[in-house]
Amino acid sequence: MTTQPASVTIDLEGRSYPIVIGAGLLDRPDTFASLPAASAAVIVTNDTVAPLFADRLARALQGRFASTHLVTLPDGEAYKDWATLNTIFDALLGAACDRSTTLFALGGGVVGDMTGFAAACYMRGVPYVQVPTTLLAQVDSSVGGKTAINHPMGKNMIGVFNQPLLVVADIDTLDSLPPRELAAGLAEVIKYGPIADHVFFEWLEANLPLLVARDRPSLARAIRRSCEIKAWVVGQDERETGLRAILNFGHTFGHAIEAGLGYGSWLHGEAVGCGMVMAADLSARLGLIDATYAARIARLVGRAGLPVRGPALGVERYMELMRVDKKAEAGQIRFVLIDGQGSARLSRAPSAVVAQVIEQHTG
Ligand code: NAD
Ligand code: GLY
Repeated sequence: MTTQPASVTIDLEGRSYPIVIGAGLLDRPDTFASLPAASAAVIVTNDTVAPLFADRLARALQGRFASTHLVTLPDGEAYKDWATLNTIFDALLGAACDRSTTLFALGGGVVGDMTGFAAACYMRGVPYVQVPTTLLAQVDSSVGGKTAINHPMGKNMIGVFNQPLLVVADIDTLDSLPPRELAAGLAEVIKYGPIADHVFFEWLEANLPLLVARDRPSLARAIRRSCEIKAWVVGQDERETGLRAILNFGHTFGHAIEAGLGYGSWLHGEAVGCGMVMAADLSARLGLIDATYAARIARLVGRAGLPVRGPALGVERYMELMRVDKKAEAGQIRFVLIDGQGSARLSRAPSAVVAQVIEQHTG
């Protein structure tokens, strides 16, 4: 082990929980010692992750649960849908799982979002634990209780808030992550700098090569700081009535890219990376930050290996897709804009300026 586990708390009164971050956590039964007794543990994962980590997690859970079951979903964003969600219920009912069952989401954000949603619905709610194995899931999707599936007309449109009991981010699992997926995770890491912490942004500028090289201490530091910022935001605004929306920096343009190309064409993090370049430029065009800062954000996104130009969907199509965004209000698109170094706000923007941004950064 090269790093000591760190713990960050999501502070939500009766529903508070720890995010444990470290190396080797999957091989330690005491990682899960804080969980209440339950009749069954059900590991929900996918056909890529199962052969990598399912046995190790099952071993770590041995002795704590009367039985352990495995539910293996097909891999991919395209399967984050009703039909696949229903296969989780089929498996739970098929194994006669009762209300004293704990689900374990072992995988990336797709598995995490679907398992959290399934846990909220099964028998009107059973507890679940997040065991994120992608960088994106470790710094974002496993934390904060947003769960959802996609609808053909919009991403993450069907879902609920449902907080897990525990998040276990084992940094060792990132060793097998393809470079493209690591870069997608870096997009969500990068976003925390401009929205909340300029010192972290400058640290990322200086340390990006170490993160790309998967240097353990650097990854541990980036994951911890990302989780701390997310915990700070979610602790104040769990249900996204205001502040939490800043976590969607880059997501309005990004969701349009994902939906416009069809889910799974670009990775979520790739679309968010490009979306941040566009949202930063929009912020600069509206006079909220200077163009140099927007260019620094774009440079960092590019250095992470993420696309900085969006697909040529056309201005009208982008606008149409962005109107379906959950942040839209009465059909008016709202963007997360950067209004200082480490500061963000949710705001409308004149369509003509948004169109300029789309024309400048796509095609
Ligand atoms: P993903 O879940 O599709 O995982 C990416 C790929 O990596 C998959 O092929 C997966 O099987 C594979 N994989 C996972 N762990 C691996 C490992 N350790 N080694 C090798 N391969 C591994 O994608 P993601 O980027 O983790 O998550 C994206 C999803 O998360 C999107 O659906 C997005 O909407 C959602 N999301 C949710 C929130 C939230 O707050 N709930 C936040 C951000 C993103
Ligand atoms: N990923 C955005 C949020 O959790 O609110």
